[in-house]
Amino acid sequence: MLNIKGIWKSFGGLMALRHISVDVKEGDIKALIGPNGAGKTTLLNIISGIYQPDKGEVFFLGRNISNLPSTKIARKGISRTFQHVELFGNMTVLENIMVGRYVKTKAGFFSSGLKMPYVMKEEKEIQRKSEEILEYINLAQRNDELASNLPIGEQRILEIGRALATEPRLLLLDEPAAGLNIRETRNLGEIIRKIRKELRITIVLVEHDMELVMRISDSITVLNFGEVIAEGTPLEVQKNREVIVAYLGEEEEIQRGYNAHT
Ligand SMILES: Nc1ncnc2c1ncn2[C@@H]1O[C@H](COP(=O)(O)OP(=O)(O)O)[C@@H](O)[C@H]1O
Ligand SMILES: [Mg+2]
Repeated sequence: MLNIKGIWKSFGGLMALRHISVDVKEGDIKALIGPNGAGKTTLLNIISGIYQPDKGEVFFLGRNISNLPSTKIARKGISRTFQHVELFGNMTVLENIMVGRYVKTKAGFFSSGLKMPYVMKEEKEIQRKSEEILEYINLAQRNDELASNLPIGEQRILEIGRALATEPRLLLLDEPAAGLNIRETRNLGEIIRKIRKELRITIVLVEHDMELVMRISDSITVLNFGEVIAEGTPLEVQKNREVIVAYLGEEEEIQRGYNAHT
């Protein structure tokens, strides 16, 4: 579904990605892991068109998308969340989903201010669809609350809901479990699984929580200093020496993930 081929990206003198190639199979949950600064977010930014690569190409469903702007890439079916939650804090939960949904419609966010009859009909439809999404991610009882009043765990899930509103085929998640407690992380894991299984959306998961990664991923790619250092199933990656060395100090966490998986 997604083929990343020989991507290079530098910021000034800093080489953030050095010849990265990764393939993501349709229907998979693919985890991207690696220490801080490894280049994971940069890679998501390149896939979603926020940055252009210096060299290399990204293919989505066989089409080269490397030079498309992010809005076009979103319309092709790639949606994402951010490492730092980027919700509209002064809008309600429902409105946050509706904003995501406007990307999908012809009226667009601004012309809908005119309240033409066809626009109003469309707006009703957007609201109905948005309520359905909130139902799906178990946030329906929060519809009218301000997004900024939700606990962080629900904010992260709301952000996923907003990404779903564009009806993507590929969902990129940047550290969705950051700041969540164990219970919230479990719930998040269940929602990610459900999205993959029922909505058949392929998922790229950047995540530090090894327990979560090992539990829900089909395949893992490990980055370190902008390079792929390992790739395989959760079990294969946990046994890889280079990975353990890259995570020096986080070794214990890998062990914990391993125990949880077996
Ligand atoms: N916009 C940017 N400008 C300058 N340096 C950046 C920018 N984005 C990322 N970097 C640098 O690129 C490297 C990779 O960062 P990032 O992709 O955020 O890593 P990760 O998400 O794996 O922690 C880091 O050294 C980071 O400081
Ligand atoms: Mg990051």
